[in-house]
Amino acid sequence: MEEEKETEQKDQNTLESQPNSQSTPLSKTAQKKLLKQQKWEAKKAEKKAQMKEQKKKEGERKRKEWEEKLSSCASEEERLKLIESRRELRKERMEKRAEEKEDKVQRLSRAKEFGQNIVIDLEFADLMTNSEIHSLVQQIMYCYAVNRRCTSPGHLWLTGCRGEMKNQLQRLPGFDKWIVEKESQSYIDALQDQKENLVYLTADSETVLDELDLKKIYIIGGLVDRNRWKGITMKKASEQGVQTAKLPIGSYLKMSSSQVLTVNQVVEILLKFVEIKDWKASFFQVIPQRKRGATDSEELQGVDGEELENEDDPSDKKKAMH
Ligand SMILES: C[S@@+](CC[C@H](N)C(=O)[O-])C[C@H]1O[C@@H](n2cnc3c(N)ncnc32)[C@H](O)[C@@H]1O
Repeated sequence: MEEEKETEQKDQNTLESQPNSQSTPLSKTAQKKLLKQQKWEAKKAEKKAQMKEQKKKEGERKRKEWEEKLSSCASEEERLKLIESRRELRKERMEKRAEEKEDKVQRLSRAKEFGQNIVIDLEFADLMTNSEIHSLVQQIMYCYAVNRRCTSPGHLWLTGCRGEMKNQLQRLPGFDKWIVEKESQSYIDALQDQKENLVYLTADSETVLDELDLKKIYIIGGLVDRNRWKGITMKKASEQGVQTAKLPIGSYLKMSSSQVLTVNQVVEILLKFVEIKDWKASFFQVIPQRKRGATDSEELQGVDGEELENEDDPSDKKKAMH
């Protein structure tokens, strides 16, 4: 039994530690995993098609309703009035949207000067499989969307943004217009004059973060690895002589699994903390309940917690991004 577990673990490690490799024959566990992934993809596609169909029906229903309303008008004058009032409503709605968009742009631009600097270190692409890179890109997209919605957004940096990472990011619609610092250099070069202010966030640090300091620049490892590369960010920061810190999760929560969070969860927690200055509430609102452990569920009542369908891939939340 133990042996079987060990073989399974090895199979998994073999599959996961071969980034971007397609040619090696797949082990049984890897095949199972692939099948599971394919089923998940198929389900996702089906869900998408259903949503599209639903949207189409809703559009048709509204159009019919409008036509009925028009044909029930007693006179041509009444009809024209109705058309005009709808036009006005649409215009107002569009103006409001444009205003909101402009507000967001203003806030993000201000954050460049006054916001909390948060760096996502993108130098780990070689350690990830294609699907892990894809997940990371989805997470970054989510981070940007969350930041855009914040009343006090942070200033996001994507450092080491080159090669495959850059290619995949550039495929995101609107990426060119994102108000973030896109930097091909490593943070250590790009921010060399601020080295004493760099703090690499890593669950393996012995230092516990208790406050956020606006002068500091918090770095998050851009890695989706299901902790296959244990301790890699701690090692990197120590070798570079960069300070490290971990989130104070242990002081507030009893996690049901490890305290290693995904990139988007860490970014979201930092942004929440900037806004509400309360670690516990920030953790509760961002960390999925299943990860937090059952004992906390009572305290959850009344908290607007969101749970990611797939922890590493927040694409299910895309709808909420715009
Ligand atoms: C999926 S984790 C990567 C784990 C990776 N094995 C490592 O050594 O960092 C993504 C990143 O989120 C940040 N992170 C995750 N959990 C954290 C925690 N509890 N405290 C501080 N940072 C954390 C770290 O920057 C980490 O590199």
